[in-house]
Amino acid sequence: MSSEEVSPPSSSPTMHFIGKKADIVKAGRVTKQVNGCRDVLVMYHHGQLYALDMRCYHAGGSLQNGDIEEFNGRLCIVCPWHKYKITLAEGEGLYQAVDDPTVRPLRSHWRSKGIKQRVHKVTEVGGDVYVTLNDSSDPIESDVYQTEKYRTGTFNMQPKVKT
Ligand code: FES
Repeated sequence: MSSEEVSPPSSSPTMHFIGKKADIVKAGRVTKQVNGCRDVLVMYHHGQLYALDMRCYHAGGSLQNGDIEEFNGRLCIVCPWHKYKITLAEGEGLYQAVDDPTVRPLRSHWRSKGIKQRVHKVTEVGGDVYVTLNDSSDPIESDVYQTEKYRTGTFNMQPKVKT
């Protein structure tokens, strides 16, 4: 069978075309509605592609504007709204726990809150990038911000400020 006869990945019902890898590398991050139902953020960082739900599990912050930093040896996106840290590869929420707040100097450790942000599988084929949605039936907190209410613009995508 010649290479022309091989079905392209775009014919797969589960792999959704996001864009050309070269364009994603140049942009660093892109957002796309996948399968008409999910807003996904795809990022390129230090040679790796990552995909996760676009809005933060905490209160719907726009992760596409977050910084990427390493905490305890794990690569995270830092939500621009309230600075929650989410691992890029697993969608875990990380936080710093203090042993005893009455003891100085404070001794803190990084801990995991568990999986909070739904991450998706990224595949690159011949310079094209595809996302396969993580369709695990177990609820994940970021699912809340994939509902119609948050995807149609009726939700004000700005941090809540107390007055
Ligand atoms: S909305 Fe992301 S940290 Fe609050």
